[in-house]
Amino acid sequence: MKIVVLVGLPGSGKSTYLERMGVAGLSSDAIRKLLADDETDQSIHERVFQTVRYLLRQRLEIGRPVTYVDATHLTPRERAPYIRLGARYGCPVEAVFFDVPLEVCRERNRSRDRVVPEEALKRMALKLKPPTLEEGFSGITVIAYT
Ligand SMILES: Nc1ncnc2c1ncn2[C@@H]1O[C@H](COP(=O)(O)OP(=O)(O)OP(=O)(O)O)[C@@H](O)[C@H]1O
Ligand SMILES: [Mg+2]
Repeated sequence: MKIVVLVGLPGSGKSTYLERMGVAGLSSDAIRKLLADDETDQSIHERVFQTVRYLLRQRLEIGRPVTYVDATHLTPRERAPYIRLGARYGCPVEAVFFDVPLEVCRERNRSRDRVVPEEALKRMALKLKPPTLEEGFSGITVIAYT
């Protein structure tokens, strides 16, 4: 089994990447919609991520070979729970980092249905810490912007 944690700003292409591969990840936005009928509701943050972790544990319990987790996961602190779950279940945890410039994310963000406020995007860009092996990832794939 393995856990794959996606890391990247809104608009960096995480959900599109999964869609192109034809896989369904555990998406924090999809869970927001399931819980609050609104995929932009930011007032239930903790509940959303508890649910992500609950579903991930259920998948590990039934032995699903790969689980992708689709959320921004900008800091080591936000990524640490997956490293701990991987250790508990004896499975590696990998990261896929969407290394896309803020300017490009901003542009893509503007031209889609669900627009993240400009200020929020800027704040998130300042917070972003690329994933490292030191955090406990077994491997890191960088999707460079071309
Ligand atoms: N490689 C790419 N080249 C050009 N456009 C892209 C690429 N990847 C994604 N996009 C476009 O950028 C927009 C945002 O992509 P996407 O929804 O996958 O981002 P995201 O990282 O999942 O963002 P969020 O964190 O807000 O869910 C979409 O309109 C998508 O079509
Ligand atoms: Mg997405």
